[in-house]
Amino acid sequence: MGSGKGYGKTILFGEHFVVYGLSAIASALGSYTTADVKVIEGNGWTVDDQRSATPGYKKQKYDEAMQSVQNVIDYLKIDTKNQKLEITFSGNLIAASGVGASAAQCTSLARALNDTFNLDLEDEKINEAAYEGEKSYHGTPSGIDNTASTYGGLIWFKKNLSGGKNTMELLQALKKMFLVIANTGITASTTEVVADVRRLKEKYPVKFEKIFAEYKNLAEDAKNALINGDIITIGDLMNQNHKLLQEITVSGEVNEKLVEIALQNGAVGAKMTGTGRGGLVIALAENEEKQVKIANAIESKGYNAWKTMIG
Ligand code: MEV
Repeated sequence: MGSGKGYGKTILFGEHFVVYGLSAIASALGSYTTADVKVIEGNGWTVDDQRSATPGYKKQKYDEAMQSVQNVIDYLKIDTKNQKLEITFSGNLIAASGVGASAAQCTSLARALNDTFNLDLEDEKINEAAYEGEKSYHGTPSGIDNTASTYGGLIWFKKNLSGGKNTMELLQALKKMFLVIANTGITASTTEVVADVRRLKEKYPVKFEKIFAEYKNLAEDAKNALINGDIITIGDLMNQNHKLLQEITVSGEVNEKLVEIALQNGAVGAKMTGTGRGGLVIALAENEEKQVKIANAIESKGYNAWKTMIG
Protein backbone atom coordinates (compact mmCIF):
# COMPACT_ATOMS: atom_id res chain seq x y z
CA MET A 1 0.00 0.00 0.00
CA GLY A 2 1.30 3.47 -0.80
CA SER A 3 0.05 6.96 -1.44
CA GLY A 4 1.08 10.22 -3.08
CA LYS A 5 -0.08 13.77 -3.72
CA GLY A 6 -0.19 15.99 -6.79
CA TYR A 7 -0.99 19.70 -6.50
CA GLY A 8 -3.41 21.63 -8.65
CA LYS A 9 -2.13 24.66 -10.54
CA THR A 10 -3.19 27.91 -12.03
CA ILE A 11 -1.51 29.48 -15.05
CA LEU A 12 -1.00 33.18 -14.39
CA PHE A 13 0.54 33.94 -17.77
CA GLY A 14 1.08 32.12 -21.04
CA GLU A 15 -1.31 29.17 -21.50
CA HIS A 16 -1.27 28.05 -25.14
CA PHE A 17 1.77 30.24 -25.90
CA VAL A 18 3.79 27.84 -23.73
CA VAL A 19 3.03 25.00 -26.17
CA TYR A 20 5.12 26.91 -28.76
CA GLY A 21 8.17 27.39 -26.57
CA LEU A 22 7.30 30.77 -25.06
CA SER A 23 7.79 31.21 -21.31
CA ALA A 24 4.82 30.96 -18.99
CA ILE A 25 4.22 31.51 -15.29
CA ALA A 26 2.19 29.11 -13.16
CA SER A 27 1.54 28.68 -9.50
CA ALA A 28 0.77 25.46 -7.71
CA LEU A 29 -2.35 25.60 -5.54
CA GLY A 30 -2.63 24.42 -1.97
CA SER A 31 -5.29 21.91 -3.03
CA TYR A 32 -4.19 18.48 -4.19
CA THR A 33 -5.26 15.08 -5.48
CA THR A 34 -4.25 12.03 -3.51
CA ALA A 35 -3.65 8.59 -5.01
CA ASP A 36 -3.72 5.46 -2.88
CA VAL A 37 -2.46 2.22 -4.33
CA LYS A 38 -3.22 -1.20 -2.88
CA VAL A 39 -1.59 -4.32 -4.32
CA ILE A 40 -3.71 -7.46 -4.32
CA GLU A 41 -3.67 -10.84 -6.03
CA GLY A 42 -4.70 -10.97 -9.66
CA ASN A 43 -3.67 -8.82 -12.60
CA GLY A 44 -4.39 -5.45 -14.19
CA TRP A 45 -5.63 -2.39 -12.29
CA THR A 46 -8.82 -0.68 -11.22
CA VAL A 47 -9.60 2.94 -10.42
CA ASP A 48 -12.01 4.28 -7.85
CA ASP A 49 -12.25 8.00 -8.56
CA GLN A 50 -13.60 9.71 -5.44
CA ARG A 51 -12.55 13.25 -6.39
CA SER A 52 -15.16 16.00 -6.19
CA ALA A 53 -15.66 17.37 -9.68
CA THR A 54 -17.47 19.85 -11.88
CA PRO A 55 -20.61 17.99 -13.08
CA GLY A 56 -19.80 16.04 -16.24
CA TYR A 57 -16.03 16.45 -15.90
CA LYS A 58 -15.22 12.87 -14.92
CA LYS A 59 -17.46 11.36 -17.57
CA GLN A 60 -16.05 13.57 -20.30
CA LYS A 61 -12.44 12.86 -19.32
CA TYR A 62 -12.92 9.16 -18.46
CA ASP A 63 -11.10 7.58 -21.43
CA GLU A 64 -8.24 10.05 -21.21
CA ALA A 65 -7.94 9.48 -17.47
CA MET A 66 -7.79 5.70 -17.88
CA GLN A 67 -5.15 6.02 -20.60
CA SER A 68 -3.14 8.37 -18.38
CA VAL A 69 -3.11 5.76 -15.59
CA GLN A 70 -1.83 3.17 -18.08
CA ASN A 71 0.83 5.58 -19.36
CA VAL A 72 2.17 6.26 -15.86
CA ILE A 73 2.17 2.53 -14.97
CA ASP A 74 3.98 1.71 -18.22
CA TYR A 75 6.51 4.52 -17.84
CA LEU A 76 7.43 3.33 -14.35
CA LYS A 77 7.49 -0.29 -15.58
CA ILE A 78 5.13 -1.55 -12.89
CA ASP A 79 4.24 -5.22 -13.28
CA THR A 80 0.46 -5.62 -13.58
CA LYS A 81 0.58 -9.19 -14.95
CA ASN A 82 1.40 -10.89 -11.66
CA GLN A 83 -0.32 -8.49 -9.31
CA LYS A 84 -3.33 -6.22 -9.37
CA LEU A 85 -3.36 -2.54 -8.41
CA GLU A 86 -6.38 -1.00 -6.75
CA ILE A 87 -6.00 2.74 -7.28
CA THR A 88 -8.14 5.31 -5.44
CA PHE A 89 -8.09 9.01 -6.28
CA SER A 90 -9.35 11.52 -3.72
CA GLY A 91 -8.15 14.80 -2.15
CA ASN A 92 -9.41 18.36 -1.82
CA LEU A 93 -8.72 19.54 -5.39
CA ILE A 94 -11.99 19.89 -7.32
CA ALA A 95 -11.53 18.18 -10.66
CA ALA A 96 -12.35 20.88 -13.21
CA SER A 97 -10.93 22.17 -16.48
CA GLY A 98 -8.17 24.69 -15.88
CA VAL A 99 -7.04 23.67 -12.42
CA GLY A 100 -4.47 21.11 -13.54
CA ALA A 101 -6.67 18.24 -12.40
CA SER A 102 -5.22 15.82 -14.92
CA ALA A 103 -1.64 16.69 -14.01
CA ALA A 104 -2.43 16.42 -10.30
CA GLN A 105 -3.91 12.99 -10.91
CA CYS A 106 -0.87 11.80 -12.90
CA THR A 107 1.59 13.23 -10.37
CA SER A 108 -0.25 11.72 -7.40
CA LEU A 109 -0.24 8.33 -9.10
CA ALA A 110 3.48 8.51 -9.92
CA ARG A 111 4.21 9.39 -6.28
CA ALA A 112 1.91 6.65 -4.98
CA LEU A 113 3.58 4.02 -7.18
CA ASN A 114 6.97 5.31 -6.04
CA ASP A 115 5.83 4.87 -2.46
CA THR A 116 4.18 1.47 -2.96
CA PHE A 117 7.11 -0.13 -4.75
CA ASN A 118 9.94 1.77 -2.99
CA LEU A 119 11.27 3.04 -6.31
CA ASP A 120 13.25 5.83 -4.67
CA LEU A 121 12.52 8.24 -7.51
CA GLU A 122 13.67 11.86 -7.56
CA ASP A 123 11.13 14.58 -8.38
CA GLU A 124 12.57 14.80 -11.89
CA LYS A 125 11.50 11.22 -12.61
CA ILE A 126 8.08 11.75 -10.97
CA ASN A 127 7.63 14.75 -13.24
CA GLU A 128 8.60 12.70 -16.31
CA ALA A 129 6.12 9.96 -15.38
CA ALA A 130 3.37 12.54 -14.85
CA TYR A 131 4.21 14.07 -18.24
CA GLU A 132 3.71 10.67 -19.89
CA GLY A 133 0.29 10.52 -18.22
CA GLU A 134 -0.55 14.02 -19.42
CA LYS A 135 0.06 12.93 -23.02
CA SER A 136 -3.22 11.02 -22.93
CA TYR A 137 -5.09 14.29 -22.38
CA HIS A 138 -3.51 15.79 -25.45
CA GLY A 139 -0.63 14.57 -27.52
CA THR A 140 1.65 17.58 -27.08
CA PRO A 141 1.43 18.92 -23.54
CA SER A 142 3.90 21.66 -22.79
CA GLY A 143 4.68 20.05 -19.44
CA ILE A 144 3.88 23.16 -17.40
CA ASP A 145 0.97 21.54 -15.53
CA ASN A 146 2.84 18.44 -14.34
CA THR A 147 5.89 20.56 -13.46
CA ALA A 148 3.80 22.85 -11.24
CA SER A 149 2.04 19.83 -9.78
CA THR A 150 5.30 18.05 -8.98
CA TYR A 151 7.46 20.89 -7.65
CA GLY A 152 4.85 23.27 -6.22
CA GLY A 153 5.49 27.01 -5.81
CA LEU A 154 5.52 29.76 -8.39
CA ILE A 155 7.31 28.71 -11.57
CA TRP A 156 8.69 30.24 -14.72
CA PHE A 157 8.51 27.53 -17.36
CA LYS A 158 9.79 27.23 -20.89
CA LYS A 159 9.34 24.11 -22.97
CA ASN A 160 12.37 22.91 -24.88
CA LEU A 161 10.97 22.42 -28.36
CA SER A 162 13.99 20.32 -29.40
CA GLY A 163 12.98 17.67 -26.89
CA GLY A 164 15.73 18.36 -24.33
CA LYS A 165 15.27 19.50 -20.77
CA ASN A 166 12.64 22.19 -20.19
CA THR A 167 13.57 25.35 -18.29
CA MET A 168 12.01 25.59 -14.85
CA GLU A 169 12.85 28.41 -12.49
CA LEU A 170 11.25 28.81 -9.08
CA LEU A 171 10.20 32.44 -8.61
CA GLN A 172 9.97 34.25 -5.32
CA ALA A 173 7.16 36.78 -5.44
CA LEU A 174 7.72 39.74 -3.13
CA LYS A 175 4.11 39.73 -2.00
CA LYS A 176 1.48 37.06 -1.46
CA MET A 177 -1.38 37.58 -3.87
CA PHE A 178 -5.10 37.31 -3.23
CA LEU A 179 -6.61 35.33 -6.06
CA VAL A 180 -10.17 34.37 -6.89
CA ILE A 181 -10.66 31.31 -9.06
CA ALA A 182 -14.05 31.23 -10.76
CA ASN A 183 -15.49 28.16 -12.43
CA THR A 184 -17.49 28.50 -15.65
CA GLY A 185 -18.77 24.97 -15.01
CA ILE A 186 -17.88 24.08 -18.60
CA THR A 187 -15.45 21.23 -19.25
CA ALA A 188 -13.22 21.91 -22.23
CA SER A 189 -11.24 19.39 -24.25
CA THR A 190 -7.59 20.40 -24.11
CA THR A 191 -6.93 18.18 -27.14
CA GLU A 192 -9.49 20.02 -29.24
CA VAL A 193 -8.64 23.55 -28.13
CA VAL A 194 -4.88 23.06 -28.53
CA ALA A 195 -5.44 21.53 -32.00
CA ASP A 196 -7.69 24.43 -32.96
CA VAL A 197 -5.03 26.96 -31.99
CA ARG A 198 -2.48 25.03 -34.06
CA ARG A 199 -4.78 25.14 -37.09
CA LEU A 200 -5.31 28.88 -36.67
CA LYS A 201 -1.59 29.48 -36.26
CA GLU A 202 -0.92 27.65 -39.51
CA LYS A 203 -3.64 29.62 -41.28
CA TYR A 204 -2.61 33.05 -39.96
CA PRO A 205 1.16 32.88 -39.40
CA VAL A 206 1.75 36.64 -39.54
CA LYS A 207 -0.99 37.41 -37.05
CA PHE A 208 0.32 34.77 -34.67
CA GLU A 209 3.89 35.99 -35.00
CA LYS A 210 2.74 39.43 -33.91
CA ILE A 211 0.73 38.06 -30.98
CA PHE A 212 3.65 35.86 -29.89
CA ALA A 213 6.05 38.83 -30.00
CA GLU A 214 3.67 40.87 -27.87
CA TYR A 215 3.25 38.03 -25.40
CA LYS A 216 7.03 37.52 -25.12
CA ASN A 217 7.51 41.08 -23.78
CA LEU A 218 4.48 40.73 -21.55
CA ALA A 219 5.87 37.55 -19.95
CA GLU A 220 9.19 39.24 -19.08
CA ASP A 221 7.32 42.22 -17.60
CA ALA A 222 5.10 39.87 -15.60
CA LYS A 223 8.10 38.04 -14.17
CA ASN A 224 9.62 41.32 -12.99
CA ALA A 225 6.32 42.58 -11.59
CA LEU A 226 5.89 39.36 -9.60
CA ILE A 227 9.42 39.50 -8.22
CA ASN A 228 8.87 43.16 -7.26
CA GLY A 229 5.39 42.53 -5.82
CA ASP A 230 3.85 45.14 -8.11
CA ILE A 231 0.22 43.99 -7.89
CA ILE A 232 -1.24 46.73 -10.11
CA THR A 233 1.16 45.94 -12.94
CA ILE A 234 0.53 42.21 -12.55
CA GLY A 235 -3.22 42.85 -12.83
CA ASP A 236 -2.74 45.05 -15.87
CA LEU A 237 -0.60 42.38 -17.55
CA MET A 238 -3.23 39.74 -16.77
CA ASN A 239 -5.78 41.88 -18.62
CA GLN A 240 -3.41 42.21 -21.56
CA ASN A 241 -2.73 38.47 -21.56
CA HIS A 242 -6.48 37.84 -21.58
CA LYS A 243 -6.85 40.04 -24.69
CA LEU A 244 -4.20 37.98 -26.50
CA LEU A 245 -6.05 34.80 -25.52
CA GLN A 246 -9.24 36.31 -26.95
CA GLU A 247 -7.35 36.97 -30.17
CA ILE A 248 -6.36 33.33 -30.49
CA THR A 249 -10.06 32.47 -29.84
CA VAL A 250 -9.64 30.42 -26.66
CA SER A 251 -11.81 32.50 -24.36
CA GLY A 252 -15.53 31.77 -24.19
CA GLU A 253 -18.81 33.48 -23.44
CA VAL A 254 -18.92 32.50 -19.78
CA ASN A 255 -15.20 33.24 -19.37
CA GLU A 256 -15.91 36.76 -20.63
CA LYS A 257 -18.84 37.15 -18.28
CA LEU A 258 -16.77 36.10 -15.25
CA VAL A 259 -13.86 38.36 -16.22
CA GLU A 260 -16.28 41.27 -16.46
CA ILE A 261 -17.91 40.57 -13.08
CA ALA A 262 -14.46 40.36 -11.47
CA LEU A 263 -13.29 43.66 -12.99
CA GLN A 264 -16.54 45.43 -12.12
CA ASN A 265 -16.10 44.34 -8.53
CA GLY A 266 -12.62 45.69 -8.09
CA ALA A 267 -10.23 43.05 -9.47
CA VAL A 268 -6.94 44.65 -10.56
CA GLY A 269 -6.79 42.08 -13.35
CA ALA A 270 -8.66 39.04 -14.60
CA LYS A 271 -8.16 36.43 -17.27
CA MET A 272 -9.11 32.95 -18.32
CA THR A 273 -6.62 30.34 -17.21
CA GLY A 274 -5.63 26.99 -18.71
CA THR A 275 -7.27 25.54 -21.77
CA GLY A 276 -10.12 28.07 -21.95
CA ARG A 277 -13.46 27.89 -23.83
CA GLY A 278 -14.88 27.21 -20.40
CA GLY A 279 -12.82 25.99 -17.49
CA LEU A 280 -11.66 28.67 -15.10
CA VAL A 281 -11.09 32.39 -14.78
CA ILE A 282 -8.67 33.96 -12.30
CA ALA A 283 -9.00 37.42 -10.79
CA LEU A 284 -6.37 39.27 -8.77
CA ALA A 285 -7.42 41.36 -5.78
CA GLU A 286 -5.40 43.96 -3.90
CA ASN A 287 -6.44 42.70 -0.50
CA GLU A 288 -8.62 40.18 1.30
CA GLU A 289 -11.63 42.47 1.48
CA LYS A 290 -11.68 42.92 -2.28
CA GLN A 291 -11.06 39.20 -2.79
CA VAL A 292 -14.19 38.42 -0.75
CA LYS A 293 -16.20 41.02 -2.69
CA ILE A 294 -15.19 39.56 -6.07
CA ALA A 295 -15.87 35.97 -4.99
CA ASN A 296 -19.28 36.92 -3.57
CA ALA A 297 -20.23 38.79 -6.75
CA ILE A 298 -19.37 35.74 -8.85
CA GLU A 299 -21.24 33.38 -6.55
CA SER A 300 -24.30 35.65 -6.55
CA LYS A 301 -24.50 35.05 -10.32
CA GLY A 302 -24.60 31.28 -9.73
CA TYR A 303 -20.95 30.33 -10.39
CA ASN A 304 -18.54 28.68 -7.99
CA ALA A 305 -15.62 30.79 -6.83
CA TRP A 306 -12.66 29.82 -4.62
CA LYS A 307 -10.40 32.18 -2.75
CA THR A 308 -6.74 31.32 -2.57
CA MET A 309 -3.37 32.94 -1.94
CA ILE A 310 -0.36 32.42 -4.17
CA GLY A 311 3.22 33.63 -4.39
C1 MEV B 1 -3.46 23.62 -20.14
O1 MEV B 1 -3.54 23.71 -18.72
C2 MEV B 1 -2.42 24.57 -20.64
C3 MEV B 1 -2.22 24.59 -22.15
O2 MEV B 1 -1.24 25.61 -22.41
C4 MEV B 1 -1.75 23.28 -22.69
C5 MEV B 1 -0.34 22.92 -22.26
O3 MEV B 1 0.43 23.75 -21.82
O4 MEV B 1 0.02 21.74 -22.42
C6 MEV B 1 -3.50 24.99 -22.88
